[in-house]
Amino acid sequence: MKKLGVGIVGVGEMGRRHAENIRRLVPEARLVAVADAAADRGRQVAADLEIENSYPSLEEMLARKDIDAVVIATPDKFHANAIAAAAGAGKDILCEKPLATSRGDAQAALRAVARAGVRLQIGFMRRFDPAYMAAMKRIEAGDIGEPVLFKSLGRDKDIPPIEAYQSNVNGMLFYNNTIHDFDLARWLMGDEVTEVQAYTTVSIRPQLAMYGDVVASSVNLKFAGGAIGNVESNVQAIYGYDVRSEIVGSKGAIFVGSVEKVPTAFLSASGSSHILADHFLTRFADAYLAEVRDFVDNMLHDRPPRVSGREGMKALEIAIAAEDSHLQGGAPRRVRDQEVELLGAAGQSVN
Ligand SMILES: NC(=O)c1ccc[n+]([C@@H]2O[C@H](COP(=O)([O-])OP(=O)(O)OC[C@H]3O[C@@H](n4cnc5c(N)ncnc54)[C@H](O)[C@@H]3O)[C@@H](O)[C@H]2O)c1
Repeated sequence: MKKLGVGIVGVGEMGRRHAENIRRLVPEARLVAVADAAADRGRQVAADLEIENSYPSLEEMLARKDIDAVVIATPDKFHANAIAAAAGAGKDILCEKPLATSRGDAQAALRAVARAGVRLQIGFMRRFDPAYMAAMKRIEAGDIGEPVLFKSLGRDKDIPPIEAYQSNVNGMLFYNNTIHDFDLARWLMGDEVTEVQAYTTVSIRPQLAMYGDVVASSVNLKFAGGAIGNVESNVQAIYGYDVRSEIVGSKGAIFVGSVEKVPTAFLSASGSSHILADHFLTRFADAYLAEVRDFVDNMLHDRPPRVSGREGMKALEIAIAAEDSHLQGGAPRRVRDQEVELLGAAGQSVN
C-alpha cells in the first residue's frame, strides 16, 4: 500500500515531536524530509531520526515530488505563508495552531488552500485527547442534557524567557494559548461563540505590556444558543502544566482533567508538582500521536480532515475579538461571523 510522504517544516519542540511520531509510530506515513531555518537543527533532527533529507527552507523541501503532505510547526506568524506555499505546491497540510495571527493572513491562506484544492487540518490536538473525546461522546449522547455552562483553563508551567516575547514571532496569549480553549468551547458546546469580554493582567510581570502581551487572562463567552462560558489562561503557573474543562448541562456535568482528589491542594514549584503533568508533550502525548495518525489516514483515503481550516478560522475570530476587548479594557466585543466570506472564497467551501 502507498505510504503518505510527509515533510515537516519547523522542527523545534513541537515539530520534533510530530517528526518522531511520524517516523516511528505511523507506519502508513514516510517521513521524507525536515526543513528548518536553523539549518543545524534540521540536520540534527534528520540525523537523530535517521532520515536523509533536511533543508534550510520550506520552499526547497516543497520541490520534492515524493512529499504528499506537509506538517507546519514554525512559529505562529509564519503559518499563513507556509500554508499558502505548501498549497501552491499541491501538498495537503497539517498546520499547528493558530491558523494565522491576523484575519487577512488567515483569509489569504484559506483562499490558497481552496484554489489549490488541497486539504488543511489545524493542530487542535485536544480534540484527539482520549479524555476530551470521551467527554464529547457523552455530550453527543445527550448524557448531560443541553449544555449551559462552559469553563476551561490552560496554565503553562515555566516562565517564558523574555526572548520569546522579544522575537515577536508568535501571537499574543489569545492566539498562542487560549485558542485551544476557544476551539474546545465551540466543539464541546456544539455552538458558536458570539460575544467575548476579556480581562487580562501583567501584574506579576509588567514588562510584558511592552510586547503587547499578558501573563494571564479571563475571557467570558456568550454562545449563540444562550449558553455562557469562561476560559482562563496563564503562561507561568509555576506549579505544573494544568489543563481542565467543565461542561455543565441541564441534566448533569462533565469535568475533564483534575488536580489530586484532596479537599485542599497547595501547589508550588517545589511542593506538589509530581501530582501534575509538567508539560504539554507529556499531558497530550496520546493526542499528538492520534492527531497525526488521523491526518495520515484521512489523506491516504482521500477524506476531509477532522479539524478543518474553517475550524481554525472560527477559533481565530474569537481570539481576535478577545484581543480587541482586552485593548478596550474589557469591553464586550462581538465575534465576527465569517461563514459567508469563507463559503464565498473561490466559490467553494473551504475544507
Ligand atoms: N498544539 C500544541 O499543543 C502546541 C504546543 C506547542 C507549540 N505549538 C505550536 O507549534 C509551533 C512551533 O512551536 P515550538 O514551541 O515548537 O517553537 P520552537 O521555537 O521550539 O520551534 C520552531 C522552529 O521553527 C524554526 N523556524 C522559525 N522560522 C522558520 C521559518 N520561517 N522556516 C522554517 N523554519 C523556521 C525554528 O528554527 C525552530 O526550530 C507554534 O506555532 C506553536 O504555537 C503547538
